[in-house]
Amino acid sequence: MLCTETPTDISTNDQVMNRKDVLFEYYEVENDKSLPDDEKELVALAREMCSQAYAPYSTFYVGAAVLLENGKVIKGSNQENGAYPSGLCAERVAAFAASAMFPGVPMKKIAISARSNRVPVESPVSPCGACRQVLLEYELAQHQPMKILLSTEKGSIVIIEKVQDLLPLAFSGNGLKKPKGN
Ligand code: THU
Repeated sequence: MLCTETPTDISTNDQVMNRKDVLFEYYEVENDKSLPDDEKELVALAREMCSQAYAPYSTFYVGAAVLLENGKVIKGSNQENGAYPSGLCAERVAAFAASAMFPGVPMKKIAISARSNRVPVESPVSPCGACRQVLLEYELAQHQPMKILLSTEKGSIVIIEKVQDLLPLAFSGNGLKKPKGN
C-alpha cells in the first residue's frame, strides 16, 4: 500500500489540510494455472470447503484454507445460527482454529472461496470488515504478510499481498497494549 501526502492549502483560515491518498495494487489471474503449487492447493481446498459450510439460512457457502509457516493447512467454512449474529464467517472459523491449534505460528496465506444456491457468485468474494480486522490482528502480530487468494467455485482468482491492503487506517489495538516494563 502506498500512502502519500500532498499539502493542500485551505484559504478560508490558517489551516493547512494535508491530503493523504491510499493506493494498493492487487492482481487477478484467469484461473489457477499460473499459481505456485501451494496456492493451487490452497484455492482448491477453499473451494472444497464450501461444501462443508453450515449455511441453511443464507445458502451462501464460504470456504477458507490457511497455510501456516509450519506447513499445516487449517480449513474452515461459514457456520450459521438461527440466532443470526451468533454465526461466524469461514475466514474467522479458519483463522481462529489455526491460532487455537498452533498459537503464534505465522499464517502465510489464506484462500477464500464462495458459492451460492440462489444466484451465481460471479466474482471472487472479499472478506467482510470483521474478518479483515481479525486477519489484520494476526498479520500485525506475526510481523509478516498474510497473502489472500479470493475465488469462486471456478474461474478467476484475485491475489492480495497482505491484509493491511484491505484495511487502510485500521484500528491496530496499539493503545490497548501495555507499555514495556509494566
Ligand atoms: N460469509 C463468510 O463466511 N465470509 C465472508 O467473507 C462474507 C460472508 C458468510 C456469513 C454468512 O454465513 C453468509 O456468508 C452470508 O453472509
